[in-house]
Amino acid sequence: MIITLAGGGSTFTPGIVKSIALRKDELEVDEIRLYDINEERQRKVGVLVDWILHEDLKLDIKLTVTTDKAEAFTDADFVFAQMRVGGYAMREQDEKIPLRHGCVGQETCGCGGLAYGMRTIFPMVELIDDVEKYAKPTYWILNYSNPAAIVSEACRVLRPKARIINICDMPIAIIDVVAAALECSKKDIVYDYFGLNHFGWFTSIEVNGEEALPRLREYIKEHEILLPAAFLADKQSLMKAAKSGDEGDENPEQNRHTKGSWYYVWKGVYEIMELFPEYLPNTYLNYYLQQKEFVEHSNPERTRANEVEETREKNLFDGIDRYEKTGEIDESVFYAGSHGDWIADLAIALKNDTKARFLVITENRGALPNMPYDAMVEVPAYIGKKGPEVICQDPIPLFQQGLMMQQLNSEKLLVQGAIEGSYEKVLQAFTLNKTMPSMTVAKEILDDMIEANKGYWPELH
Ligand code: G6P
Ligand code: MN
Repeated sequence: MIITLAGGGSTFTPGIVKSIALRKDELEVDEIRLYDINEERQRKVGVLVDWILHEDLKLDIKLTVTTDKAEAFTDADFVFAQMRVGGYAMREQDEKIPLRHGCVGQETCGCGGLAYGMRTIFPMVELIDDVEKYAKPTYWILNYSNPAAIVSEACRVLRPKARIINICDMPIAIIDVVAAALECSKKDIVYDYFGLNHFGWFTSIEVNGEEALPRLREYIKEHEILLPAAFLADKQSLMKAAKSGDEGDENPEQNRHTKGSWYYVWKGVYEIMELFPEYLPNTYLNYYLQQKEFVEHSNPERTRANEVEETREKNLFDGIDRYEKTGEIDESVFYAGSHGDWIADLAIALKNDTKARFLVITENRGALPNMPYDAMVEVPAYIGKKGPEVICQDPIPLFQQGLMMQQLNSEKLLVQGAIEGSYEKVLQAFTLNKTMPSMTVAKEILDDMIEANKGYWPELH
């Protein structure tokens, strides 16, 4: 059993490898390979992964660290794909360019996400082709490269036969927070959900078989935010950290989604539910439903990309440098947690044909009867060795369906525009995005994005 991490130089790699290693019996893993196009990053992260596997856990798992495709993918069973095309420097552009025009600047939502999609579509297709060429014919690619909605639509159109499953950890991160708020174990929670990636709603949250949404609604109303009470004890410092863009003090459970400017989306859950209380919204809906407010509390000179560079990135690489110099390791430099656990559990379901239930981004195929058959939706599905088996739901309400159709068509137009090299279609995608106040502003942002993405985007005419 060979598992390759493509984008092995990511800050998430050590945590994910740890999750794989802790499930070594179920996964029967013999070898882990790290592959990246950035040799220096890959080497450094490889040093830490080597420590985790061989010093810390003392496991008999072979580690290969490489920048060579053939070495990375030959006979691989699983490829975990986590590429970030353009790195944090380009994430910064995705966030800052729209903000300069008074619009939502976010790495996966609004025009920022569309720009990131334009960069990622073709490298993703190239990765699929490489895996097809070298890996075992029964390979699975578990893709969590962003923007996952656009990437998955592009893969559906360009490589319909690829054995790829697209996933996102945000709903899981939300369930972590919900469990802490309701003071239960997340293992006792079963939820229903529908949406597109970073654009969906929880329609039911059962705790030990009992519907807990009413209790959760009360909790959110009372605290005026969706964060566990333990974090809220020091509300002042949370707010201060959010405003300054610092990560603030260590929070219990190390949930990175509750740090720095993430604060606002948990606050936004309360604000959305004050007006639309029926379902629990994914935190990302804030960017579409509170676009004006988002721009008002944002600083176009300092965005989430800067926060990440100064914290997660810096801590990891400083920690590795320190280890190389002194031989001392501080495990808090790398992030481990639900993200890696959930990917590794999904791999177990595929490999061992468990038919466990997971939320995945997959072709609708009738699961949401009033969404197009071929829409890439995020819904619960049973996972076995043949991939996701979607679970049928009732028609979704008009409000959510309308929002989703607008977002879906924006994403589909972007993919078509990228494939055809059509400026007009890409402009339509930007214009249709709910964060856009007018077609003229959409065009201004698009033209700035074309400039900033030279060398990354396909040519448009
Ligand atoms: C969530 C989303 C991911 C996204 C990440 C960004 O986990 O589901 O798709 O990449 O947040 O987190 P960051 O800490 O980099 O802002
Ligand atoms: Mn995500």
